Amino acid sequence: MFILKFKFRPILVIALAWIFTGSLAAQTPKSGTSQNFNLIRWNHGKFLYGADYYPEAWPQNQWAQDARRMHAAGINFVRMGEFAWVKMEPAEGQYHFGWLDQALQTLAAQGIHAVLGTPTAAPPAWLYSKYPDIAAVNRQGIAYRFGSRRDYSLLNPHFLAATRAIVTAEAEHFKNNPAVIGFQIDNELGNPYCYDRYCQAAFQAWCRKKYHTLAGLNRAWGTIFWGHTYTAWTQIPLPWNTLFGVVNPSLALDYDRFFDQATRNFLDMQAQILRRIAPTKAITTNEMGMFDAIDYSKLNRALDFVAWDNYPMFDQRHANYFGPGLSHDLMRGSKDGENFMVMEEEGGLPGWTTFWGRQAAPGLYRVWAYQAIAHGADGVCYFRWRTSRYGTEQYWQGILDQDSYPNTRYRMIARMGKEVQRLRPWLEGTEVRSQIAMLISPASRWAFHIQPLTKGFDYNRQLLAYYRAFRRRGANVDVVFPQQDFSQYKLLIAPSLFVVTPQLEAKLSAFVRGGGVLVLTYRSGVKNGNNVFTARTLPGRLARLAGVEIHDYDPATTQRQAIAMNGKKYPAGVWFDILTPGAGTQTLARYARLFYRGQAAVSLHPEGRGAVIYVGTEPSSHAFYNQFAALAARRAGVHLSGLLPAGVEEASREKAGTRLIFLLNYTGQPKTVALGIATRNALTGGSVGAQVKLPGYGVRVLIESDSAAFTFRR
Ligand code: GAL
Repeated sequence: MFILKFKFRPILVIALAWIFTGSLAAQTPKSGTSQNFNLIRWNHGKFLYGADYYPEAWPQNQWAQDARRMHAAGINFVRMGEFAWVKMEPAEGQYHFGWLDQALQTLAAQGIHAVLGTPTAAPPAWLYSKYPDIAAVNRQGIAYRFGSRRDYSLLNPHFLAATRAIVTAEAEHFKNNPAVIGFQIDNELGNPYCYDRYCQAAFQAWCRKKYHTLAGLNRAWGTIFWGHTYTAWTQIPLPWNTLFGVVNPSLALDYDRFFDQATRNFLDMQAQILRRIAPTKAITTNEMGMFDAIDYSKLNRALDFVAWDNYPMFDQRHANYFGPGLSHDLMRGSKDGENFMVMEEEGGLPGWTTFWGRQAAPGLYRVWAYQAIAHGADGVCYFRWRTSRYGTEQYWQGILDQDSYPNTRYRMIARMGKEVQRLRPWLEGTEVRSQIAMLISPASRWAFHIQPLTKGFDYNRQLLAYYRAFRRRGANVDVVFPQQDFSQYKLLIAPSLFVVTPQLEAKLSAFVRGGGVLVLTYRSGVKNGNNVFTARTLPGRLARLAGVEIHDYDPATTQRQAIAMNGKKYPAGVWFDILTPGAGTQTLARYARLFYRGQAAVSLHPEGRGAVIYVGTEPSSHAFYNQFAALAARRAGVHLSGLLPAGVEEASREKAGTRLIFLLNYTGQPKTVALGIATRNALTGGSVGAQVKLPGYGVRVLIESDSAAFTFRR
């Protein structure tokens, strides 16, 4: 009956559903159960050290030995159950949690607590067969077949009903179990995008809620172009499956916002059930660092703490610590700088379905885990306890292999298990502090996916280039989002700030006038919030603040270009904004080639008590960024140390009067760091001189509590 009705009036039902889930979301407590969630206190006073465990895939007579081995390695935490829907609910409405009770009991006997996944990432085959339309549909309108995971439509009413039922049953069953300390919602939310009829109806309802009138929507999206004017809400299409794959960028950006919000509503709906039934348990979800379909800074408002999945060796060069470092900082920044945990830390050789990746020296597993801690993690949980014998992920190693032999990775992880508990008193209460921040604009990132400037454009590469230059000198770097408060920073780097709203313009102006140094790069201020091209002179709303005008630009295709700064030349590419500096704006670098040779490429505009540096291109050599970081920091009054040896990272956490300095060597060769101050080794208590020697893959955690030296270092 419902289905029949639904068929004839989809927009009405979906619109109601959308408004309903939207209002549910609004009731979700804003910031979990507490501000600044203390993960160590929550984990019964222990540094959270764990493994992702799948007891459902192993004979029960192996569980006790697993628990003993975990305990021996210092493991006090597991995450379980996130793909076990069919085991929890083998047939509709029949719940079987007894096996999980037994697993929890076996683990608890060894002092191990658990976060349980809500299993919605893996809907059972029976659910697909009963409601075939829960399957997600791709851009071409083709539904996925059963056989993967997270291939559901997150707006399908049957899927939502089944989700509410299983989450309710799970929360009811475990709400009083002391071995369960929290829940992880789903697994790596954020895709696939949804293109089914439910999504289309919900998108139309979302547009209606945002624009109120069709005239308003048509104006905002500029639908006069090619006569795309809509005369009924039901005419609004989903983006992309068009002739030549063209799309109205305004519609596409709103679709990205809609999908972001749909994902948020799905998480909020689960969070609300869990909070209502099991209010003493903490709530998180496992996220993906630089993954950008979701605006984590909004999603994470409903969580108690942020957790994410860190696979540094999956696609990185082994000594390149900048990518994972930036991801940690982004994850920390996505919840106002609060400490977080790694829910899946790489614990073995990656691969996936068909091919293996590259094996790393066992020592690196420890260095990467320490990196997480150095960047603010108060918990590290390795993926996975044991490599699977079955299914898609046979080519993805856990700590142990299928034979459970206590191999070198196990021994390395056991060594670290002892260390982290010794470090716990030092770690607890410390946080990462920084004077420098990178501003990430989710709207700009989405808009660039819709219209990348040139084939070579990569928003994240720019973030990393600037980030790397500051980290090479041992500076902590935060990540902030447009709606957050960034007034406390001295230096703010906002690469390619494509989409600029009046609110963001006002915040950036206040930041600069108050004394901050803002770094903008090419293609800033081009679009308004509707992804419509500005009618102002570029860089649009930022032109006055930046003290430059851009009347000509040259997208790099095959031509070579370079910029000259302080008598040195640096190669540059991707895009060349040809700057016309205003009165009082200095030129820091000029183009060295082509018809605009000699014209300004980088400018500095003093404004109020601060300044704006505009970099009109993307230099491609590290040498430029090293010079630039020194220049920008000097201008902002930020102290930077000298360059660290290649492959060595310095990062710090602090609390009143004490700073912990982490030195991490990602290479197999010994390295020496000229720290310039005397410290104590947090693990041994021994004093350490100003020159610190690190063995290959070595880690030092040093305590600096001398207040004079502390002042000097800042
Ligand atoms: C993560 C995911 C895990 C597992 C892991 C290794 O992205 O959350 O379930 O698939 O990758 O493949």
